[in-house]
This record gives sequence, C-alpha cells and structure tokens, in this order.
Amino acid sequence: MLAVAAAAPALLAACGGSGESSADAPKLTGAAAEGQRLFRSSGCAACHSVQGEDGVGPALNGLAGGSVELEDGTTVTADDAYLREAITRPDAETVKGFRPVMPRREFAPDEVDALVAYLQAIGSTKG
Ligand code: HEC
Repeated sequence: MLAVAAAAPALLAACGGSGESSADAPKLTGAAAEGQRLFRSSGCAACHSVQGEDGVGPALNGLAGGSVELEDGTTVTADDAYLREAITRPDAETVKGFRPVMPRREFAPDEVDALVAYLQAIGSTKG
C-alpha cells in the first residue's frame, strides 16, 4: 500500500525532464513541446489564450480539427494546412469577429512544424 502511494510522485518527478514544468499545462513532448516554447517566446501568447478565452486573437485550444468561421462567410476546417497558413500568412484569411492585426513573422519550416504540432496537441483540450 505504502509503496504504491509513494511511487506516484516519484514517477511524476521522473517524467519532468530537465525543464521547469508548469502545473496547469498539458504534458507535451517532442515537436509539440518545442512549439509551446516558441509560442511563448514569439509573443503569440500576448494575443492568444490557450485557456478558452478570446483576447485580441481567438483562443487556440480546441481549434485544431474543429471548424472556423471566416470573415468572408465561409467555414473551413482547422486542419494542418489551415494552421500552417494561419501562422505563416496571417493576412490570407481572417477569423470572423476579429481584426486582421496578427503580425506576419518569418519562421523556419521546422519552427512552423513545431507550432502546428503544439496547436494540434492542444486542439482537443479545453484548457
Ligand atoms: C497582435 C496580436 C497577435 C499576435 C502576436 C499573434 N496573433 Fe494569431 N491571430 C490574431 C488575430 C486577431 C487573429 C484572428 C484574425 C485573423 O484570422 O487574422 C489570429 C489568428 C490566428 C490563428 C487562426 C485562429 C483561428 O481561430 O482560426 C492562428 C492559428 C494563430 N493566430 C496563431 C498565432 C501564432 C502561432 C502566433 C505567434 C507566432 C500568433 N498567432 C501571434 C492576433 C495575433
């Protein structure tokens, strides 16, 4: 009994890796973890919550795989291609109800991959 109770915190500590882990964030690995780091260091978080509350930009959790209504009246699926375009060509389409103020930034292809992997990882979470 005691051994089981003691094992859980030990496992959590072992999985923590080298970086700091934030208590509320979902556990991410690989490209998604890299994407999360980029998301924070690139200023995305200033406009985008990943906790379900819209800010200057729409909340991004729950986005991937869902459908998005655009300003021009069309509805699109937030698939891999859409997410890529939203990140690399923010002016290509505008989400309904938002201003087209997202800055365009240059990312290396693997950085775009990582950001997309991150958005997909949080796509099905509610924050
Ligand atoms: C100055 C504020 C701002 C910053 C910084 C910003 N965005 Fe945005 N973003 C927006 C706004 C506003 C929209 C909605 C309007 C549009 O579609 O252009 C948007 C839309 C998006 C969408 C599409 C959302 C949807 O619901 O379909 C994605 C994905 C996205 N941003 C990712 C990012 C990423 C990744 C970064 C960091 C590299 C970033 N944004 C930085 C303001 C911002």
